[in-house]
Amino acid sequence: MKRRLFITLLLAAVISCTGYGKDIVGQSDVLPSASTAKITSGTAKVQSETTSTTKAAASATTSAANIETTATTTAETPTQAPTAAQSNEAAPAGGGAAAQQPAQQQEQPQQSAPAPSYTPSNTTAPSPNDSNYGAAPTVYNYDGMTYIQGVLIANKSYSLPAGFAPGLDQTCLNQFYKLQNAASQQGLNIWLSSGYRSYDYQAQIYNNYVARDGQAAADTYSARPGYSEHQTGLAIDVNQIDDSFIGTPEAVWLENHCHEYGFILRYPQGKQDITGYKYESWHIRYVGTDMSYAIHNSGLTLEEYFGIDSYYH
Ligand code: DAL
Ligand code: ZN
Repeated sequence: MKRRLFITLLLAAVISCTGYGKDIVGQSDVLPSASTAKITSGTAKVQSETTSTTKAAASATTSAANIETTATTTAETPTQAPTAAQSNEAAPAGGGAAAQQPAQQQEQPQQSAPAPSYTPSNTTAPSPNDSNYGAAPTVYNYDGMTYIQGVLIANKSYSLPAGFAPGLDQTCLNQFYKLQNAASQQGLNIWLSSGYRSYDYQAQIYNNYVARDGQAAADTYSARPGYSEHQTGLAIDVNQIDDSFIGTPEAVWLENHCHEYGFILRYPQGKQDITGYKYESWHIRYVGTDMSYAIHNSGLTLEEYFGIDSYYH
């Protein structure tokens, strides 16, 4: 009996203990585990959002930088010589919304960013406009003509009076003879094709080109009367005055040596937007040897060297 009672009591105790244990395990193992997973997942989500927010911020910064770059570029445009097309666009638009837009686009970046300084195409060479170069070039306006550091300027921006008729400068001619002589010693034949041209003669030439090719085309290779360097008496066209002269031994020698005699090749290749004219391998301009060496060594055009533009206003 005693043994039966003991077994009965033992069984009751075992059943009771096992049921209690199940409840505890159920509460402690499942719930905290699910809760942890949820928090982890939540954290991950927060982190993910933070990351994408950071990415979005970075992206916004990049966009802002891009906008600023674009804006700077847009702002830079007006300080450069505008093309004839640009000047025409600005004038007779009639004051509509489209006409006002470009002006607003140009104003905006100037408020947020400083106006860019002039950058010469050859950044390794100093230009008279560089702050580390020295004083800004001296500009004299005399009798309707513009001189910069003693150099008489004639381009699309700086004209000459119709009555200015100096003839071919004697020093220029003498220096040309020296150049010609030096070239001949190299077996090269350079001759003077066109020197001084009066206002009226330039008008004839230009008008003929306009009649033949139209004004837009003529303006890329022929100066309007009053705007030609030939009227200064300081410019000379040599040999064939057309593209057949390009790349000839004479043209190559001229480009590399004319500065030794005080000349510069006035309209170099690839500088049409700066000088206002297509490449003219035959057109040299007398500026004196101090200036011709300085300009030649700078690798700049006359316009870049003096920081001036060349377009019809
Ligand atoms: N061919 C040059 C630009 C002139 O006509 O003066
Ligand atoms: Zn010429």
